[in-house]
Amino acid sequence: PAAKKIKIRQSVANRDTRVKVSGWIHRLRSQKGLIFIVLRDGTGFLQCVLTGQLAKTYDALTFTLESSITIFGIVSALPQGKTAPDNHELTTDYFVLEGKAPGEQEAINSRISTDTSPSTLIDLRHLVIRGETASTVLKVRAATLRGFRKAFEQLGLLEVTPPCMVQTQVEGGSTLFEFNYYGEKAYLTQSSQLYLETCLPSLGDVFCIQESFRAEKSHTRRHLSEYTHVEAELGFLDFDELLTHIEELICQTIDNVLADSKTSELLRILNPTFEPPSRPFLRMKYAQAIDYLQKNDIRDPEGKPHEFGDDIAEAAERKMTDDIGRPIFLTHFPAELKAFYMKRSKVDNRVTESADLLMPGVGEVIGASMRISEPEELFRGYAREGIDPSPYYWFTDQRKYGTCEHGGYGLGLERFLAWMCDRYTIRDCCLYPRFTGRCTP
Ligand code: 4AD
Ligand code: MG
Repeated sequence: PAAKKIKIRQSVANRDTRVKVSGWIHRLRSQKGLIFIVLRDGTGFLQCVLTGQLAKTYDALTFTLESSITIFGIVSALPQGKTAPDNHELTTDYFVLEGKAPGEQEAINSRISTDTSPSTLIDLRHLVIRGETASTVLKVRAATLRGFRKAFEQLGLLEVTPPCMVQTQVEGGSTLFEFNYYGEKAYLTQSSQLYLETCLPSLGDVFCIQESFRAEKSHTRRHLSEYTHVEAELGFLDFDELLTHIEELICQTIDNVLADSKTSELLRILNPTFEPPSRPFLRMKYAQAIDYLQKNDIRDPEGKPHEFGDDIAEAAERKMTDDIGRPIFLTHFPAELKAFYMKRSKVDNRVTESADLLMPGVGEVIGASMRISEPEELFRGYAREGIDPSPYYWFTDQRKYGTCEHGGYGLGLERFLAWMCDRYTIRDCCLYPRFTGRCTP
């Protein structure tokens, strides 16, 4: 009889009809002359059983994990007391072994075990991503990208795709990746912010989801050389409105992710105690954070107490965020600690209208600020950072042709996922991590 070609996620809906389903042997067990396969195709898992003569064929008797196979048969609900994914099972009447995977020492599960070193795990990442945890993170990542895009649409922002090959720096010259662009010096983008700003008079509020690149020399669990940057820019708003918008974006995105029951289930597997944050997020000025660090004797990397004007390093930032245990908007950083484009506070000229959003377990997930809207102030910003303004002529022009109060932010997708999925390192939150000394596979 004919068989309907399906993906595993469609198997329950196609119960009691003959189907054809292809995938990889995820698990394998034989019992009393029966062979049980848990088949995996990326869309789900399906238990398939082989009985009688079929279970005695040479191919069936020598099945190996991770072999690819096409199976024909009828899916039915399992009686009470038996368990399988989704409580369904396919009774196999025919199969075609597509690509046999090696067994024994060459089998993937012999090459990867609980004592495999982190570096070998990354060498073998193309195989690791077949596993349940890694693939679940990648599925939640896809759902989160969908959730962000939907939230941006709900909030009325338009998506653009700025270039990644640029001739300007945004976040400091020391982390620029330089390359030869037809004989000219160019860089991989650190942030699309400057381009987003140019879109405001053309398209209104905009966002982009694009790779950013940072030559970060330090080995940490939250720095990648290439990461996915979710950035937005909004016009005609003030600092307070910017922070409120960010809260809305974060909460709306999480709602969108959780609205899908399948994704919600996957997220709970990774992070059983996940709870969406409540609004408003705690707001704390940089100066208050310095007080907090002093009072709680949280010191800088050299073991000295923090003082106003100090950069708050990763460890101290995380300790404070973990102790407080909820998202924090850390605001009003001193101008010297922040980028050239940040607007100063009218109340206190030493500090900027800037905010980092800190999440427990990770620390900084978002960097946000109001932008300088006056050309003269911008030229002072360039000068302070030692930036030659000429390649920035198009950015400066925004202040000349109808300037406006505006602000925006960038969110590191992998850091956001590390928080949501409760991963120790953001390296587990992307497909193939890039960091110091690692550009493979
Ligand atoms: O704080 P950053 O450097 O801010 C900007 O790039 C702004 N121009 C963004 C904007 O306003 N449009 O970076 C923003 C976020 C950080 O909060 C962090 O989450 C992430 O990008 N990030 C990194 N993630 C992984 N690896 C790195 N090396 C990162 N550097 C920044
Ligand atoms: Mg930052």
